[in-house]
Amino acid sequence: ANKLGSKKERTLAMIKPDAVTKVGDIIQLIYEANLIITKAKMTKLTWKQAADFYTEHQSKSFFNNLLQFVTSGPVIAMELMGDEAVSVWRKLLGPTDSSVARKEVVSSLRAQFGTDGTRNAAHGSDSLASAARELEFFFPSTAGHGPPNTAKYTDS
Ligand code: PPS
Repeated sequence: ANKLGSKKERTLAMIKPDAVTKVGDIIQLIYEANLIITKAKMTKLTWKQAADFYTEHQSKSFFNNLLQFVTSGPVIAMELMGDEAVSVWRKLLGPTDSSVARKEVVSSLRAQFGTDGTRNAAHGSDSLASAARELEFFFPSTAGHGPPNTAKYTDS
């Protein structure tokens, strides 16, 4: 924590296929929550990538259903940064099941943009450890994002 008691964190947000067209509204909510987007990419996960990302749920009854859904179209992965980013983003998301989320007094992203327990608009890391793993999944530190680390670039 810094002098003001805040804890800067990074977390992984993933907009799922059902909410990709709502990315504008979702980015608005992120900004209103004082989080900033420090990385972003749109990609279509293969079955194998999705199984790897959700490996902790491999024994769950919904595993196949989850992979079917999350590979049904593109997703948008974002690194969010800010004070207590992990819990702030999870709170913005609301309850896992969008139909449950809509019964809550306080509206949430899943209440607004999701449908049910499968089509629930977005994902957020549930801990700092998950965030580290999930950020590495989408934004590998070895992949050399950003400009190449050289001054030798020429345009010719
Ligand atoms: S658990 O068992 O409590 O860990 O599961 P839960 O936290 O509720 O959900 C973990 C992720 O699995 C997704 N999920 C489902 N997907 C498709 N169909 C069904 N029935 C289903 N049930 C749960 C849920 O959306 C969570 O996804 P993420 O992306 O982690 O939010």
